[in-house]
Amino acid sequence: MVVFTHFVPLAITSSLLTLLPVAQASSASFERRSLTATPSDVNGKTFSYIVVGGGTAGLTVAVRLSEDATNTVVVLEAGDAHLNEPQILVPFEVGSVYGNPDYDWLYQSVPQTHAGGAVVNLTRGKVLGGSSALNAMLWDRSAEFEYNNIAQLGNSGWDWSGLLPYFKKPENFTHPDPAFAQKWNLTFDDATRGHGGPIQTTFPNAIPDAELPTEPAALSLGLNIISDPMSGTTKGAWRSSCSIDPVHRTRSYSVNAYFTPNQGRSNLVVLTGAHVTKINWASNSTSAGLTASGVSFITNGTTYTVGASREVILSASSIGSPQVLELSGVGSKSLLSKIGINSTIDLPGVGENMQEHIYSTVSYAVKSGVETLDPLLSNQTLLAQQEALFGATPATGDLGYTASGITFLGLSTLFNNTVSDALLASLNSQIASTNRTKGQVQQQSIQVQTVRSADSSVVEVLVEGIHIGPDTADPNTGYVTFLTLLQQPFSRGSTHVPSANALDHPNIDPNYFSIDFDLTVLSTVAKYVRTTLSKTVPYANIIAEEQFPGSSVKTDDDWKAYVKSNFNSQGHTTGTCSMMPQAKGGVVDANLKVYGTTNVRVVDLSIMPQQFSGHPQALVYTIAEKGADIIKNANK
Ligand SMILES: Cc1cc2nc3c(=O)[nH]c(=O)nc-3n(C[C@H](O)[C@H](O)[C@H](O)COP(=O)(O)OP(=O)(O)OC[C@H]3O[C@@H](n4cnc5c(N)ncnc54)[C@H](O)[C@@H]3O)c2cc1C
Ligand SMILES: *[C@@H]1O[C@H](CO)[C@@H](O)[C@H](O)[C@H]1NC(C)=O
Ligand SMILES: *[C@@H]1O[C@H](CO)[C@@H](O)[C@H](O)[C@H]1NC(C)=O
Ligand SMILES: *[C@@H]1O[C@H](CO)[C@@H](O)[C@H](O)[C@H]1NC(C)=O
Ligand SMILES: *[C@@H]1O[C@H](CO)[C@@H](O)[C@H](O)[C@H]1NC(C)=O
Ligand SMILES: *[C@@H]1O[C@H](CO)[C@@H](O)[C@H](O)[C@H]1NC(C)=O
Ligand SMILES: *[C@@H]1O[C@H](CO)[C@@H](O)[C@H](O)[C@H]1NC(C)=O
Ligand SMILES: *[C@@H]1O[C@H](CO)[C@@H](O)[C@H](O)[C@H]1NC(C)=O
Ligand SMILES: *[C@@H]1O[C@H](CO)[C@@H](O)[C@H](O)[C@H]1NC(C)=O
Ligand SMILES: *[C@@H]1O[C@H](CO)[C@@H](O)[C@H](O)[C@H]1NC(C)=O
Repeated sequence: MVVFTHFVPLAITSSLLTLLPVAQASSASFERRSLTATPSDVNGKTFSYIVVGGGTAGLTVAVRLSEDATNTVVVLEAGDAHLNEPQILVPFEVGSVYGNPDYDWLYQSVPQTHAGGAVVNLTRGKVLGGSSALNAMLWDRSAEFEYNNIAQLGNSGWDWSGLLPYFKKPENFTHPDPAFAQKWNLTFDDATRGHGGPIQTTFPNAIPDAELPTEPAALSLGLNIISDPMSGTTKGAWRSSCSIDPVHRTRSYSVNAYFTPNQGRSNLVVLTGAHVTKINWASNSTSAGLTASGVSFITNGTTYTVGASREVILSASSIGSPQVLELSGVGSKSLLSKIGINSTIDLPGVGENMQEHIYSTVSYAVKSGVETLDPLLSNQTLLAQQEALFGATPATGDLGYTASGITFLGLSTLFNNTVSDALLASLNSQIASTNRTKGQVQQQSIQVQTVRSADSSVVEVLVEGIHIGPDTADPNTGYVTFLTLLQQPFSRGSTHVPSANALDHPNIDPNYFSIDFDLTVLSTVAKYVRTTLSKTVPYANIIAEEQFPGSSVKTDDDWKAYVKSNFNSQGHTTGTCSMMPQAKGGVVDANLKVYGTTNVRVVDLSIMPQQFSGHPQALVYTIAEKGADIIKNANK
């Protein structure tokens, strides 16, 4: 696999540290109580709730549960706190800590059978805030019918209307500057957005002119322009909002939005550097199921235990949550027995049904004079100017950049009816001959209907006015890069522990391209960028020549080979603790409770049984907000 510069790694200059607005970084008078917790403050004690993983969902659910002063809540996070760091807070720094073991788990896939044996690096946050500390900050929602599909799989209450209050609850949307909004056609619908929630959202304040053609090009191609994708219609072109503070232009994430303002609560303890190794089960478990009495965790090589009087909540991500379940004996009995883990609950769905979003890039050199962000990477004078702008209040300038130019395309844009019908026929026959659970049969049948329907998207094209890709850029040239992102993957993978050693990474097998449809769609959209999108005015007016992959890629087979050796994970993994009926291969019920337990829930993205088009962080906060209400109601 070729090395990707996912987004924009930039060597931090020390001056930026001092320029970062202190007020934003730690608003409350910094009591530090929770974050100076040591293992001995937790070891042997009992809390009402234990939350495993202080990431996106974990801090959200913990803060909500600790609103009730009669509850005590402990969060155990394997990573360190990393508060107030520019690498996390400055939007343009996205990517600077990927591959850094102080922030990233450094998970890797097993060699991918259908991608030439490639081992894919899977960047995932190992830090307080989890992947919300590392993500690219796009803030959006998927199409209405996609949530209704989740409800249809046996999950009452998880449809669009049931989720709407929880979509809004995390968000505090701030309007963009009117003149900037007019230039960029930044449109929005206040009625569908949240106002007053902890996560600050707005539009980016900096967009290079190379991204200006997004909507005009879509109009030329006869695509819809979407005024606000948060309203439940997403197919077409739109400008994405982002999880960024509108004044300081810093990342808004689960730490500074949910945790910091509430860290003074005496009933909320967050212990960092605490790697949870297993759930401990009470010996009084009944026919109603196993009861968790607490968990064990390792800090600096020493094992500790902590008790839960009410519930254990797993928010350790789509990789971490199934891992902790398996280490606790919950999973496929035959799989666990082979590696010396005694089965407690035979639940074969654990770690199965993994679904990813993956992407490739196609980049172009633009004509001279077209504004891009590339000079920031080579011109130190410019960078210093931009740091000063960013450090002022309000912050301005290019360091507040996040990508925002999005176009969602359906099958009919990529294929004519003849080809499309043949593709779906071969998809149907290939999935029918694949070994699937009842739940997968049902969800893929829904998914086939979905990709057939006129209002559904199969790919996203995200445009960035900067060079991104595995190749080397010319420092004196500006670029525009199209990221082509697969939205409705049919491949299903798995993640399972390789041994009883809790510190071993799981065997993560996304099984990329195991279903041919995925490769056909992803290679066709990359080709479409060359043959159509880049040739459409106004893109055609600003582009000088194709940079990557370039002229060596010619035929459809070349495009397929190119994609297979140049793709990466978007970090949107779902499905590994799927919310579905147990008989269909589910792991949790619609109340997020793990089958066979009385008091263990999963609250993170792993519960979603089916992938969505779009970017999932807003949904993760929604899952956590809804999950917190479910837990509060169950423990009244
Ligand atoms: C590189 C990247 C870019 C992305 N960009 C976007 C974007 O622009 N927009 C968007 O909407 N979404 C984006 N996403 C997706 C989004 O950020 C994630 O889906 C979301 O943050 C996942 O939340 P989570 O709570 O499920 O897991 P996480 O936020 O990852 O939290 C899991 C936490 O559990 C901890 N943990 C794991 N195992 C253990 C253990 N055994 N003991 C203790 N702690 C443990 C981890 O360290 C972590 O802190 C991106 C993701 C990545 C990786
Ligand atoms: C994957 O990660 C390894 C170790 O962290 C690193 O050496 C390698 O360069 C990375 N590969 C890619 C393709 O990013
Ligand atoms: C929401 O944003 C507005 C600015 O648009 C700000 O004045 C207000 O304090 C924010 N509310 C919360 C709860 O963060
Ligand atoms: C601006 O957005 C609106 C929808 O919000 C759309 O109708 C209009 O066509 C867009 N204008 C341009 C020039 O893209
Ligand atoms: C079982 O044990 C747990 C913890 O050890 C305790 O919280 C719970 O109340 C007990 N349940 C019953 C039914 O005794
Ligand atoms: C763990 O060890 C590191 C390095 O020795 C030390 O800095 C840190 O304080 C220790 N953490 C705890 C919780 O003891
Ligand atoms: C598994 O169960 C057996 C029989 O109850 C017991 O002897 C053994 O210690 C257990 N192993 C582990 C790893 O807990
Ligand atoms: C670097 O940026 C500065 C400030 O914008 C500008 O004056 C200068 O011309 C740039 N240098 C080059 C080589 O482009
Ligand atoms: C459909 O597209 C294919 C492949 O591009 C082409 O060979 C075929 O002629 C087209 N069919 C029609 C009816 O346009
Ligand atoms: C099909 O999957 C089930 C459950 O994962 C497994 O038990 C079975 O062995 C698989 N069958 C084949 C033919 O792979």
